[in-house]
Amino acid sequence: MQGNAHLKCINPQCGIEYPIEYTSVQCEKGHLLDVKYKNKPSPELKEIFYKRRNSEGSIFNESGVWRFRELLNFCQIDTEDIKECSKYLVSLDGAEGRQSKPYHMSKAADFIGISNENLWLQPEGYNPSGSFKDNGMATAVTHAKMTGAKKIVCASTGNTSASAGMFAANEGIKCDVYIPAGQIAPGKLSQAYQFGAQIVEVNGNFDDALKQSLDDAQNHDGYTVNSVNPFRIEGQKTIPFRALEYLNWEAPDWLVYPGGALGNISSCGKALMELHEWGWIKKIPRIAVINSEGASTLSDLYNGKFENEKLRWNDGNPNTELISRYYDHLDKEGLRPKTKATAIQIGRPANILKGLRALEFTNGIATTVSDSEMLDGMSVVGLNGFDCEMASGATVVGIKKLISEGIIKKDDVVVGILTGRQKDAMIPVDYHRNSENKFAIPPKN
Ligand code: F0G
Repeated sequence: MQGNAHLKCINPQCGIEYPIEYTSVQCEKGHLLDVKYKNKPSPELKEIFYKRRNSEGSIFNESGVWRFRELLNFCQIDTEDIKECSKYLVSLDGAEGRQSKPYHMSKAADFIGISNENLWLQPEGYNPSGSFKDNGMATAVTHAKMTGAKKIVCASTGNTSASAGMFAANEGIKCDVYIPAGQIAPGKLSQAYQFGAQIVEVNGNFDDALKQSLDDAQNHDGYTVNSVNPFRIEGQKTIPFRALEYLNWEAPDWLVYPGGALGNISSCGKALMELHEWGWIKKIPRIAVINSEGASTLSDLYNGKFENEKLRWNDGNPNTELISRYYDHLDKEGLRPKTKATAIQIGRPANILKGLRALEFTNGIATTVSDSEMLDGMSVVGLNGFDCEMASGATVVGIKKLISEGIIKKDDVVVGILTGRQKDAMIPVDYHRNSENKFAIPPKN
């Protein structure tokens, strides 16, 4: 045990620290937490990470998450000791993150209007449970196990529940998943059942389900594995790590993600802050987060569409009253998040403050795209022989929109994350049956 990792409240005025075994997802004043490391990893590890791609029989080298284990060593183990790794690190036999890396996709580049060399798209849908969630679930369940948890709990728009269910089944622990009834893709729901999770149907949307799951976890000794859990964020840092590694640690100009609860951009921001602080990267890529038009909380607040004030992290002094007033306004007007891309149908992004911090650090931006645009984005990815779901299509059309607005320049290098694979079989079927859709290939009879 090296004793260098701990938890720290993200609010600079508060900054309370906790030992690494702490299991609440917030500090006693209700702020989110970060995992902090005292040591500064040597850039020579880049060589070791690269060599581990030849796994030499170790599942922890095969894993696209644990390959980078020195940069997420909250278990504080000897990372070269295979016995310690086996004892502590939770893995789906090395499969999490293993197949994820950025690709060129020429048809997507043509559609976007960027050169093929400058566009990289990284499918996370080839993770074992079919989405980027496995990256963070490996680390969250590692912490759950380390602290003796018997049951993991989450709320989900589908992918989190599939991932949590898969890991829980593998580890032989219980799993409760809270889902907004009738609002998740059938393929995701069936995964949760298949892996033996206890489904709790909530009458309401994801925001309601999250509230209920957090309350129940606290009252019934459950361990929360949603992205408000700081250990989830640690594993998801490996998404940009893999992208950067494939670009020889030459930072791109942009990293683009769809935005839901904002765990992903929070982890990307933390990864970039750490790499920059350690001197591993000089340039800081800008993060672009793409909301659906029907669930646009971050974009609305960030772009000053509510009360004409642009919400910012503001060096740790964000105007949280503005956020509360925005939520009150949604409630008063009966405005519920609404998009066919149910994965990102979220009105109250639980990581909004970490998301704002990430945008401030990277000079990031937020924008929105429509449902029909997302379907086109999803479909053009398919034409390159890659599979992604509708929410991931937001990345492609978000890049297109930002290029057309001149925000992303045509010679910028852009990495877009395709967050999950298709789990709603009828979405592409319906898209292609309608000949008016841009990329539709309707059936013949
Ligand atoms: N893309 C997909 C495919 C997702 O499933 C999610 C979130 C997101 C993007 C948004 O990511 O929350 O980090 O901003 N799905 C969660 C779930 C909420 O429950 O599966 P985020």
